[in-house]
Amino acid sequence: MESVLIVGCGYIGRRVAARLQARGAAVTGLVRSAAAARGLHEQAIRVLQADLDTAGTRAFPADGFADIFYFAPPPSQGETDTRMAAFLKALDTGVPPRRMVYISTSAVYGDCQGRWISETEPVNPATPRGRRRLDAENRLRAWAEDHDVEWIILRVPGIYGPGKLPLDRLRAGTPVLCEADAPYTNRIHADDLAAICVAAMDCAGADTVYNVSDGHPSNMTDYFFRVADAAGLPRPPEIARAEAAQVLTPGMLSFLQDSRRMDNEKLLKELGIRLQYPDLDAGLKS
Ligand SMILES: NC(=O)c1ccc[n+]([C@@H]2O[C@H](COP(=O)([O-])OP(=O)(O)OC[C@H]3O[C@@H](n4cnc5c(N)ncnc54)[C@H](OP(=O)(O)O)[C@@H]3O)[C@@H](O)[C@H]2O)c1
Repeated sequence: MESVLIVGCGYIGRRVAARLQARGAAVTGLVRSAAAARGLHEQAIRVLQADLDTAGTRAFPADGFADIFYFAPPPSQGETDTRMAAFLKALDTGVPPRRMVYISTSAVYGDCQGRWISETEPVNPATPRGRRRLDAENRLRAWAEDHDVEWIILRVPGIYGPGKLPLDRLRAGTPVLCEADAPYTNRIHADDLAAICVAAMDCAGADTVYNVSDGHPSNMTDYFFRVADAAGLPRPPEIARAEAAQVLTPGMLSFLQDSRRMDNEKLLKELGIRLQYPDLDAGLKS
């Protein structure tokens, strides 16, 4: 029987778990909160409850799993991923896994001025959020190479799916950048991402990076307009970039800093992926 650990078993982790359980795998999920632990129990996922911000290295038994998916985000402050560091330290004490699959983000590329990019694009994160992700990637790679563990890094853009659409923002009438100023944004549907995670764990090749995207980027304003249209909500007002700096939160502004279009050819070819939702319209229809 496969023995699988999903570190940060939330929205995507539970979808991955369901796919693995369907083929008979025994899945354990690491979460921080009691509420999340209850959700895992309901899905018959074994629970490891630990807070990677405070757990000592022996506080949770993370070793003995053949396959580890790592989906916990870095902390929201600083330039490093202390959670990844704590987890890898915990792994140090036992038998290492066969392979680790990590969900990183496309923010590690920084601003590419709207260019199409493949995995050969140099990393150049422009935000602390991006630098923390790159720190996590680098720690994972170094640890895995030291311990003879296979690794796969998935650089993931905006995830959308049931419960993951900006409907509250649209209802609130929060403005968006006028289309001429809006950066390119890339997306992937949650169910396709879950399938990609499983394929990344199963595939023959290892020690590599994949850009994850449905291959149909558009500008961010177009995204909000299409979601509004599909949900029957009014389109949000458009504002210029100078005004956005006054009106939008720093968090929102950080997502407007980078513009790139992600090529997904390597993903589709090497992982043999056929996307269920190859573009936003297909995903929104569902
Ligand atoms: N949203 C996007 O568009 C997007 C884009 C690219 C990448 N990502 C990344 O993709 C990954 C998966 O996303 P998701 O939607 O599945 O995230 P999610 O639902 O928020 O799940 C995150 C999981 O990490 C756990 N976690 C967080 N802090 C922890 C800590 N200190 N110690 C232990 N566990 C901790 C959470 O446990 P509790 O629930 O108990 O706190 C939860 O199970 C995340 O890293 C996310 O940042 C997201």
